[in-house]
Amino acid sequence: MERRDSDAIVLFGATGDLCYRKIYPALYNLVRRRLVTVPIIGVARAGWTVQQFARRVQDSLEAFVPTRDEEAMQRLIGLLRYVDGDYKERSTFDALRKALGSAARPLHYLAIPPSVFPVVIDHLGATMCAGGARVVIEKPFGRDLASARSLNQTLLKRFPESNIFRIDHYLGKEAVQNLLYFRFANSFLEPVWNRNFVASVQITMAEKMGVNGRGRFYEEAGAIRDVIQNHLLQIVAFLALEPPVNSSGESLRDEKVKVLKAIRPVRPENLVRGQFRGYRQEEGVAPDSKVETFAAMRLDINSWRWAGVPFYLRAGKNLPVTATEVVVDLRPPPAHVFGDLGPDQPNYLRFRVGPDVAIALGAHAKKPGPTMQGRQVELFVAQQQGDEMDAYERLISEALIGDTTHFARQDEVEAAWAIVDPVLGLNTPPYEYTPGTWGPREADSLLVGPCGWHNPGADAHSWTRACAPLEMSKFAP
Ligand code: BG6
Repeated sequence: MERRDSDAIVLFGATGDLCYRKIYPALYNLVRRRLVTVPIIGVARAGWTVQQFARRVQDSLEAFVPTRDEEAMQRLIGLLRYVDGDYKERSTFDALRKALGSAARPLHYLAIPPSVFPVVIDHLGATMCAGGARVVIEKPFGRDLASARSLNQTLLKRFPESNIFRIDHYLGKEAVQNLLYFRFANSFLEPVWNRNFVASVQITMAEKMGVNGRGRFYEEAGAIRDVIQNHLLQIVAFLALEPPVNSSGESLRDEKVKVLKAIRPVRPENLVRGQFRGYRQEEGVAPDSKVETFAAMRLDINSWRWAGVPFYLRAGKNLPVTATEVVVDLRPPPAHVFGDLGPDQPNYLRFRVGPDVAIALGAHAKKPGPTMQGRQVELFVAQQQGDEMDAYERLISEALIGDTTHFARQDEVEAAWAIVDPVLGLNTPPYEYTPGTWGPREADSLLVGPCGWHNPGADAHSWTRACAPLEMSKFAP
């Protein structure tokens, strides 16, 4: 099929935090790599000039790109255009159409609050800015299943599904893509990757920072909407899906939808919500807020492969470290020939998904000496970081060429919302936890088995767990 690259980039929300922190640095790198050479039009209601817009972009690069290439920066600045106006006014979009000039296939990036999506989409359609265009929609995609469905209907009235890019930056992460690669590029995993060998799966996304001035946003979102419905469920899908029938993006998305549909909607008794002490004093947060800054849940997948295998998910702000890890615990051997290893020392696979990338295999080996006694060892591989594209860079470059593989499809986002939908409206107060701890103790009661939660460490080696034997020795290359 002929590749039809986008011929302009339009950024709605050009003055906002997401553009400042993520999108401008990503665009700078794409310009540096000469993957973006088209005009970049910022749209916002700030009363700015193009010079002020360029200043904001430069500030962002100074803050987030440690070493900058002056020539690439100047090339980026040269591509910038700016349209000032209210998203509710048609005149803003008439001005945008003018600024687009002869561009016929713009990529509209909606880095704006979800409540504004419909009006922007309608105006794009009414002012000839939508025909031939692509649209990138930031998460959270809707607030729940019903609003996600209605947003999909609004979008599909103006854009074909193939031109809609529902972004989840976890899908652009090297380590998340590697989960899928590692599963299907190796033959040794498949025989054990099922309910006969896997005892449980845990995913922890821990963040050391609190809500960092985003209290107002967090009040609308909470941990379940902010990261579980999207980032963590995407990881679950990659871990649990069946092999795609071929390497096309649609085949992958078909399998993700299938497995997400097989996950039972979460029941309140399988969820523990927490709120860090001090959250209610954050700016923009209600003094009696019941919004969760931590959530732990158990998911069950009703499929031939995974029936009876609990998937435990946990995410929170103000935890001891910033790290995301997956641990797949295997069942113990059927007989303990050597008698020295109990069920509290499972074989496991550990995937470190962020901030660095590593894979480890926990196994048992004989301890040197005259007796047949063992110890647990960890075979560990870490990926060196080079000049790789970061998640936003990668995803924007894919959207520009029309590749939807690493974006969520309509049925996929709806299937993900359906899983958490029953627990979104809970009005019970969350458990309070002390900042810098692993959340409320009540989360421990979700787990069955002797090992408890696997707590990732600040570096890829220093994880802890209730049952990790003292003699654990870790071999690094
Ligand atoms: C975002 C959430 O989607 O992901 C933030 O809105 C969170 O609350 C962030 O901090 C984490 O992303 P990363 O790439 O730093 O793990």
